[in-house]
Amino acid sequence: MGFSEVPMRVLVTGGAGFIGSHIVENLLQEGIEVAVLDNLSTGKRENVPKGVYFYKVDLRDREGLERVFREFRPTHVSHQAAQASVKVSVDNPLLDFEVNLLGGLNLLEAMRKWGAEKILFASTGGAIYGEVPEGEEAEETWPPRPKSPYAASKASADHMVNAYHITYGLPVTISRGANNIGPYQHPEKVVPLFVTNALNDMPLPVYGDGKQMRDYQYVLDHCAGIDVVLHKGVIGETYNIGTGKEITNLEMVEILLDELGKPRSLIQHVEDRQGHDRRYCMNVDKLRALGWEPQYTHEQAIRMTVRWYVENRWWWEPIRNGEFKEFYQRLYGNRKVLDVS
Ligand SMILES: NC(=O)c1ccc[n+]([C@@H]2O[C@H](COP(=O)([O-])OP(=O)(O)OC[C@H]3O[C@@H](n4cnc5c(N)ncnc54)[C@H](O)[C@@H]3O)[C@@H](O)[C@H]2O)c1
Repeated sequence: MGFSEVPMRVLVTGGAGFIGSHIVENLLQEGIEVAVLDNLSTGKRENVPKGVYFYKVDLRDREGLERVFREFRPTHVSHQAAQASVKVSVDNPLLDFEVNLLGGLNLLEAMRKWGAEKILFASTGGAIYGEVPEGEEAEETWPPRPKSPYAASKASADHMVNAYHITYGLPVTISRGANNIGPYQHPEKVVPLFVTNALNDMPLPVYGDGKQMRDYQYVLDHCAGIDVVLHKGVIGETYNIGTGKEITNLEMVEILLDELGKPRSLIQHVEDRQGHDRRYCMNVDKLRALGWEPQYTHEQAIRMTVRWYVENRWWWEPIRNGEFKEFYQRLYGNRKVLDVS
């Protein structure tokens, strides 16, 4: 029986993580059978709902991957697993190449062997295109110009995915998402970090003048886009996902503080990161043409995210007080903790 005759079975790698867990929810709501592959390095087991097959497997473990394909036999793969922190990549670039490039290759090889109708590879938007000049929007045809080891590892994997399509006819699609914000994002990332700092009346360390332009899209908009690419994306094509608009980091911080009712005096400008891109902006018309439309403005996305962290201290307090401290102590000693990618 050909795959087109069997019901969709989606393997979500990184499904215990921030974006992956929302993707899993969407697929379950559509009545689709789902399995999650995750090594739980940043993901949480409790983020994976009941009724989902769970494989605690590392992308670098080829035998583990083989077992997942043999047992679950996915028709589709949504590849979200990655070392996804720019800051971690700066401290340990080899890890990014092992996980994001070689781990991705292991997955492509497993797909080549076992076959599947489609793989959606989550690349990255802003970081991959690099600085976008004022008045321009990065289109999918723009060549990657990564600066950080993280972005370079994603760009390399992006090229490899295309090479597997051209060389072996592997049915691939690529998504390039802007900065996501929303529930269940690790408190290391800028918006959760700032909300949780502000709730503790701690300063918010803003890089440089804070005028870097970013597209903070709500994670549910991003995941709706992923869903459209998974179902309707044309094989061999790449799709940008974002709002198509941008705001400055400083504006983001001001909205965040206003929503919390906290004073602007918590803003503390710190030395800018080397090679920090001034402006990210993507054109999202290609995905719009498939019928997708972002639902939330930056302001709505920031305010909703802030409220979620205010109402869900149970989720982030243990991370921030426990593993978060240890994690950062180990990686960064007493240096400032911030990841504005
Ligand atoms: N967060 C963003 O703003 C954003 C924007 C564009 C693209 N992306 C991409 O989306 C994907 C998901 O990012 P996220 O923000 O949800 O990050 P995340 O860290 O929350 O999720 C990544 C998941 O992958 C798992 N993982 C990491 N290394 C693994 C390995 N070696 N083997 C198996 N599992 C492993 C982690 O445990 C985690 O559950 C990534 O590919 C990232 O590059 C993220």
